[in-house]
Amino acid sequence: MKALVLAGGSGTRLRPITFTRAKQLVPVANKPILFYGLEAIAAAGIREVGVVVGDTAPEVMAAVGDGAAWGIEVTYIPQDKPRGLAHAVVIAEEYMGGEPFVMYLGDNLIKDGITGLVREFDVSEASDAHILLAHVPNPTAFGVAEVDDGKVVRLVEKPAEPKSDLALVGVYLFRPAIFEAVNSIEPSARGELEITDAIQWLVDHGRVVTPHVIEGWWKDTGKLDDLLEANRILLEDITTEIEGEIEDGVRIEGRVRIGRGSVIEGSSRLRGPICIGEDVRVVDSYIGPFTSLADGVQVLGSEIEHSIMLQHSRLESVRGRVTDSLFGVGAVARTSASTPSANSFMVGDNSEVEIAR
Ligand code: TTP
Repeated sequence: MKALVLAGGSGTRLRPITFTRAKQLVPVANKPILFYGLEAIAAAGIREVGVVVGDTAPEVMAAVGDGAAWGIEVTYIPQDKPRGLAHAVVIAEEYMGGEPFVMYLGDNLIKDGITGLVREFDVSEASDAHILLAHVPNPTAFGVAEVDDGKVVRLVEKPAEPKSDLALVGVYLFRPAIFEAVNSIEPSARGELEITDAIQWLVDHGRVVTPHVIEGWWKDTGKLDDLLEANRILLEDITTEIEGEIEDGVRIEGRVRIGRGSVIEGSSRLRGPICIGEDVRVVDSYIGPFTSLADGVQVLGSEIEHSIMLQHSRLESVRGRVTDSLFGVGAVARTSASTPSANSFMVGDNSEVEIAR
């Protein structure tokens, strides 16, 4: 069995962060989302992994390398444009060489991994596609599957009147029949080759598509709220590990992880669970639950909780607590001491700033 990891796409829903970086490399609990997927694939015993890359190929390749860090062998499969999930399968046909494979969307997180699912597919030789489904409260926002007698009978993309609450989660297992399907379908109204159409093609042509309903937590991290939720869920499991320096007078409650070279100073207070990377400086500040500070971040005389700060971003003397926020690499928010008192901004395209009253 091989794996196909999708790390291309345009990431429009996460702009402006994705103007400058691959969305699969945004860290949650200080680790790129994509790495959780690669870990799950390696844990399932898969060694050969094709990674589909688009415009952000150099960044993804620099982060993942040859895969040795996970004990896997990575081959990059360039995609000229985000032409759809089924198009990613089209361009992977040669690499797969007739083997069954698991397709994993690089921006998805599945807390319990995929080992059970992969084993199940291995032994169910009659199944041409095995799809991961989850019960959701709002099926109209998802690709929805109708299941009858242990088989998938219909897939509908964002149905107005859903016939079930089973949404497609970003992991699919395929046997080579999928290549005939992806090469037979036409692009959808939005101009993409849809994986739901390809799977429906299998059903319509008498192939066997089986469901696997997961009970554990999963997330498609395409939007800010989802990223913050993923960060929260992953931080719930961290254990205390302090490699940095904590000065006398600092108060720590709950579980915190603090990386090498980081210093927590002055009257700071940390309330876990929080994850602080390397070479971070926290001075006279409050860092509240469910916050991840990446390497080189500085929080000076400010308060922040339930947020993610990417590398080298900085909060300085910000009045009022910062919450539910994502700071891009090198982003700065500070209170200015100059008069007249005024708010001044330099924010990127499609950024959002909410100022407390
Ligand atoms: P999506 O989140 O469906 O698409 P997107 O990345 O274009 O995002 P947005 O809707 O915000 O514009 O993609 C799921 C995953 O698959 C994601 O990791 C990107 C990847 N992908 C590809 O590699 N190639 C593609 O052609 C598409 C559509 C997605």
